[in-house]
Amino acid sequence: MVAGNWKMNKTPAESRLFAGKLADEISDELLSQVDVVVCPSTSCIDAVTEVLRGTRIFTGAQNVFYEDFGAYTGETSGLMIKDLGCSHVIIGHSERRQVFGETNEEVNKKLHYVLGIDLIPIVCIGETLEERENGEMENVLERQIREGLRGISHKELDQIIIAYEPVWAIGTGVVATPEQADEAMGFVRGLIAELYGKDAAERCRILYGGSIKPGNFDELVSLENIDGGLVGGASLDESFVELVKIAAKHS
Ligand code: PGA
Repeated sequence: MVAGNWKMNKTPAESRLFAGKLADEISDELLSQVDVVVCPSTSCIDAVTEVLRGTRIFTGAQNVFYEDFGAYTGETSGLMIKDLGCSHVIIGHSERRQVFGETNEEVNKKLHYVLGIDLIPIVCIGETLEERENGEMENVLERQIREGLRGISHKELDQIIIAYEPVWAIGTGVVATPEQADEAMGFVRGLIAELYGKDAAERCRILYGGSIKPGNFDELVSLENIDGGLVGGASLDESFVELVKIAAKHS
């Protein structure tokens, strides 16, 4: 899987244009080998799903609130993004956690909510540089998984995609080395195995995210523990098509 997180970039008109380009350039053959998801800003979802209707490229939201309707100024519900044509939704991105103070408990509420309405969650986890340097990486990842996935059943786990995104690698140009990514993602898969069993852990899709570019993706995606990428900066231009092609080679 290759998922593009456009973050707060592109206007609706720009999004429409770019989605059209992706639809032209990512062939059905590639899409039979790789799941491709694009996650525009909420304001652009409508434009993007309209262009992508009838293609096999999925659209996801970057965030969601865990009630259908109500007095939650500024929020958007899962029902609303689903109605706009989204199939996926990113939950707990590190920017949501760091800039907007989102907690593991909120991640958990969102996760239960979206699974209840058949949206596919991409749950982000990852340690900061300080946490890594203090030797806390495993503790942080374990808390994010245990608290974030609290009460999630075996059946529900099969619907969940996890994205390991070390915070120090996001938007910095400093990509995790294959060894670093493999170590952290092996740890996450091991923890899932402890909680849900080995088979479920093997089936669970775990993506890497953080400064992915065409030049470094091949090596990362060839690792056994890495099932694809969640891409920020390089999802905004032609590089995204290259990344899909690279992932297809390893499918
Ligand atoms: P980046 O962002 O690829 O620009 O580092 C990744 C992400 O935030 O998902």
